[in-house]
Amino acid sequence: MNPFTFGNPIKDPSRFHGREAEIRQITNRLLSSAHESTSIIGERRIGKTSLLYHLSHPEVSTRLGLTPDKFCLVYADFQGLTDITPTRFWQRILKKMSRSVCDESLKPSIEKLGGQESFDLFDLEDLFESTQDKGLTVVLMMDEFEYVTQNPNFKGDFFGGLRSLAIHHGVALLPSTRRELVDLCHSDEIKGSPFFNIFANVVLRPFPRTEAASLVDGYLSSLEEAFSPEEKEFILRLGGGQPFFLQIAGHYLVDAKSQGLKARPLFERAVADFDQ
Ligand SMILES: Nc1ncnc2c1ncn2[C@@H]1O[C@H](COP(=O)(O)OP(=O)(O)OP(=O)(O)O)[C@@H](O)[C@H]1O
Ligand SMILES: [Mg+2]
Repeated sequence: MNPFTFGNPIKDPSRFHGREAEIRQITNRLLSSAHESTSIIGERRIGKTSLLYHLSHPEVSTRLGLTPDKFCLVYADFQGLTDITPTRFWQRILKKMSRSVCDESLKPSIEKLGGQESFDLFDLEDLFESTQDKGLTVVLMMDEFEYVTQNPNFKGDFFGGLRSLAIHHGVALLPSTRRELVDLCHSDEIKGSPFFNIFANVVLRPFPRTEAASLVDGYLSSLEEAFSPEEKEFILRLGGGQPFFLQIAGHYLVDAKSQGLKARPLFERAVADFDQ
């Protein structure tokens, strides 16, 4: 089995590498007394979804101190939802939340609200007050949040409501987008709103050499066959700092090697496959 994969986000924590500094920043803010929000920004394929999956994995979050008795981590993906409305936004969030909340006694009220045809801020405040009373911080991980900020169905009152939940009702927001949030608004009114000043930005960049090497070493060491320093260096050079390209380069090198190729023909084949 080839340990290098590309295309789907990483789900298994043992296959996730790097991002220690970013995880620390995000976690420290969540653990602070105000349970602060962080906006995750990164270009296509840099690893935003993988990072959110990683943080929401129960073993990982517990290890980070985000224990289920204090933090309810809710992952929701907005990709492709071009005509979503605020109602559908909350229905989606509440559905995911009822699945991930660990306190069973909260489920009926989450489900009841999730079944509503419209939401006003009072209903949402009531619900999040009840989670807050249980000592829970609800962390809304909103992947591809530009589908919300760029959509004219979402007006100032929606963002104002989200901000008020974050400031007063124990909700923390972790949106992920390809560019900075303020650059992704459909109107100047929203761009100028105070919604955005609750966030600190964490920008996902290409991996530094040490993180790239940890990924490559980690994956290669799971294989029985030994890999030479030149072969490792080849993957690092071809992939650069982009985890996505490291995975592709590694995949094709492992593939070509399993076909019995060595030395130059091995590298040539891997490059040809990589370039495809
Ligand atoms: N921390 C990581 N460890 C190992 N591999 C990673 C990591 N982050 C990303 N990858 C690799 O990069 C690929 C792209 O990652 P991911 O889908 O998470 O990026 P994304 O930023 O969400 O992309 P998009 O903007 O297209 O949604 C994954 O399929 C995986 O192969
Ligand atoms: Mg993604």
